[in-house]
Amino acid sequence: AIDIAKLRDQTGFITLDTGYKNTGSTKSAVTFLDGEEGILKYRGYAIEELAEKSSFLEVAYLLIYGDLPKQAELDKFQNDISMHTLIHEDMKKFFDGYPSKSHPMAQLISLVCSLSTFYPECLKSHQTPEEKDLTIIKLMAKMTTLVAFIYKKSLGHPLIYPKNKYDYVTNYLWMTFGQRTEDYEVNPVVVSAMNKLLILHADHEQNCSASTVRMVGSSDCNLYASISAGIAALWGPLHGGANQAVIEMLELIKEDGGDTEKWINKAKDKNDPFRMMGFGHRVYKNFDPRAKIIKKACDDILENLGIDDPVLEIAKKLEEAALTDQYFIDRKLYPNVDFYSGIIYRALGFPSEMFTVLFALGRLPGWIAQWKEMHENKEPINRPRQIYVGHKDREFVPISSRG
Ligand code: ACO
Repeated sequence: AIDIAKLRDQTGFITLDTGYKNTGSTKSAVTFLDGEEGILKYRGYAIEELAEKSSFLEVAYLLIYGDLPKQAELDKFQNDISMHTLIHEDMKKFFDGYPSKSHPMAQLISLVCSLSTFYPECLKSHQTPEEKDLTIIKLMAKMTTLVAFIYKKSLGHPLIYPKNKYDYVTNYLWMTFGQRTEDYEVNPVVVSAMNKLLILHADHEQNCSASTVRMVGSSDCNLYASISAGIAALWGPLHGGANQAVIEMLELIKEDGGDTEKWINKAKDKNDPFRMMGFGHRVYKNFDPRAKIIKKACDDILENLGIDDPVLEIAKKLEEAALTDQYFIDRKLYPNVDFYSGIIYRALGFPSEMFTVLFALGRLPGWIAQWKEMHENKEPINRPRQIYVGHKDREFVPISSRG
């Protein structure tokens, strides 16, 4: 292999790859992705098998610590997390300060970063493995509470405190959909759907948000601030924000009469800024294996919950039309993970503004694993170069003489 650093020092040679379309930023043992074959594996385990057979917390453990947990390890992980699900009472005051219609992602970015004000031990540059682990456990635990509180705040409903008797996902659902005075009726269909969705979102190698986490973390920035930066990267509609954009697009098409051909043509028109949201991927050029699983789950879950959502039909019509359209074939544009996920989230009772927050909840263990790996590998600070194209030498003119 060419030693790029040596070549650069000797020749001033710089590789330019805007958007990092073919530039590796790290060596990683977390997630394997083959875009041509549509293969995705976490730590060597096929995503299809994990989504079918494991719980989200098991997958979180796998991503963060490298192996599937034994029962005792999983119990301890769950128990450690349960001990830390409460957030500091002062943090609740933050929710009073946000305008009632503020976007949940904006709140989440600031809330996660604010954890570093309540748990300043995370700022220590060289945390022992035990200290690092506690920082991770606190984040895994408090994330569910923050995400649930954001939702309750959006409704103007009282906040529901965590209950330690519930597992990770059920506890989150309790804080989201529970009523203070009643016991939460756990619907196994909802719990299973939630586990599946979170697993499918749990990691995706060096995507925009994971790279951001590693980039920010490489300056030795603490876990909470690094993840907060990753959440900001996720928010954009070209990345995780696409799940909200998809459902809004499907609604728009429905209200417009459901003419999918018209919207396919709009997406193909280079003079029209409209893009088919939930289509296309930087790495997958055949199909997105997550989309395949989610599409099937979408049918099953809606049927199980007895929900008939007309936008599902529109989504399927769009996919069918795109599959035989030369524009989409030539550019290898297929539904990605965000295309059907929103329809499931909606069926579970979430408003569209919460969709990207749910993506962040699922992606959290992946970001943590990426941050941890970067630290353990003692990677250097990330610092790309550039090709300078600005002015060379300019003569300074005093303001009075600038005309
Ligand atoms: N609708 C219409 N045309 C598209 C779409 C789309 N969704 N996606 C790509 N194209 C076209 C581009 O216009 C371009 O056409 P051209 O070659 O004629 O100029 C070609 O396909 C290649 O597209 P790029 O934007 O260069 O591909 P890139 O790899 O940079 O972008 C991305 C990938 C951002 C996912 C893009 O496909 C997109 O914007 N999709 C819609 C948003 C979306 O669903 N994002 C979620 C991605 S998954 C995730 O992050 C979790």
